[in-house]
Amino acid sequence: MHMLKKDLVSILDWNEEEIKHLFKTAERIKNYQKTGVEFHSLKGKTLGMMFSKASTRTRVSFEVGMYQLGGYPLYLDIKANLQVGRGETIEDTARVLSRYLDGIMIRTFSHDDVVKLAKYSSIPVINGLTDLLHPCQVLTDIFTFIEHRGDPKGANVVFIGDGNNMAHSWLNGAARCGMNLTIASPKGFEVKKDVFDAASAVAKYNGCTLKLTNDPREAVKGADLLYTDVWASMGQEAEAKERVKKFEGFQLNRELVDLADKDVLIMHCLPAHRGEEITDDVIDDPKHSVVFDEAENRLHLQKGILHILMTK
Ligand code: CP
Ligand code: NVA
Repeated sequence: MHMLKKDLVSILDWNEEEIKHLFKTAERIKNYQKTGVEFHSLKGKTLGMMFSKASTRTRVSFEVGMYQLGGYPLYLDIKANLQVGRGETIEDTARVLSRYLDGIMIRTFSHDDVVKLAKYSSIPVINGLTDLLHPCQVLTDIFTFIEHRGDPKGANVVFIGDGNNMAHSWLNGAARCGMNLTIASPKGFEVKKDVFDAASAVAKYNGCTLKLTNDPREAVKGADLLYTDVWASMGQEAEAKERVKKFEGFQLNRELVDLADKDVLIMHCLPAHRGEEITDDVIDDPKHSVVFDEAENRLHLQKGILHILMTK
């Protein structure tokens, strides 16, 4: 598959064929690793990893993934080390980094900053989470769903909780992959209308449905996949206590799981606030929960992204 300089800022940047190709590539690369076959397609290439938020999975999986592909990962702390943290423009940063690196992965607050970085870079830019979207996570989640359940088309996904970056990327991922998605959020914490409308247009074309509700018990009926995330995302720490009250009834607990399909899968992007948005018995449920398969698959799926974007 031929691609010019391409980015992954949003799942909607990639069409259905490109996403299928990504899943196949990730599966192949995962098999190489499991069977001990070396695959150094990024030998001599460098990925800059820009962070202005904390991370366990994203940082470690991109860093290790780049190393396993034979390349070099360079960790760049935006606030502590980069001049952009002291006022250098995103545009100039993009132009300069494009002269040294072969790709950039960035995790930051403002989604517009990532859009700008991609626009002014001549190298691929990968969104490792913004306040608006988390595409690498949801692509990994769908890849993990396929491993466990096969074809995602027509599957019923229910996201319980905050209309946050995860919920937004789920709208995009479900629409692109033909999954029916219901998002149940408390009043006032729904997803952004423009994200919902853009994804809905794709869903309509793809023959699947996207729904919003404030009723979690109704939403989970017939679910093949139940998903949740923290109630207060990075940057919202000051609201955390207030949100615990407002999200009452939206905890993913045994009562909700029992209303879903008997073979329902449970996912959470992690980190989890156990006892808040999800109970211990649900996240550790050996029959339904695949949260650590999901976490592992960040490595394999992102190696697929890096391979596709950086070997062109
Ligand atoms: N799920 C996820 O992106 O985890 P980190 O915040 O640890 O990177
Ligand atoms: N919504 C969470 C996701 C973390 C992976 C956050 O932004 O903090």
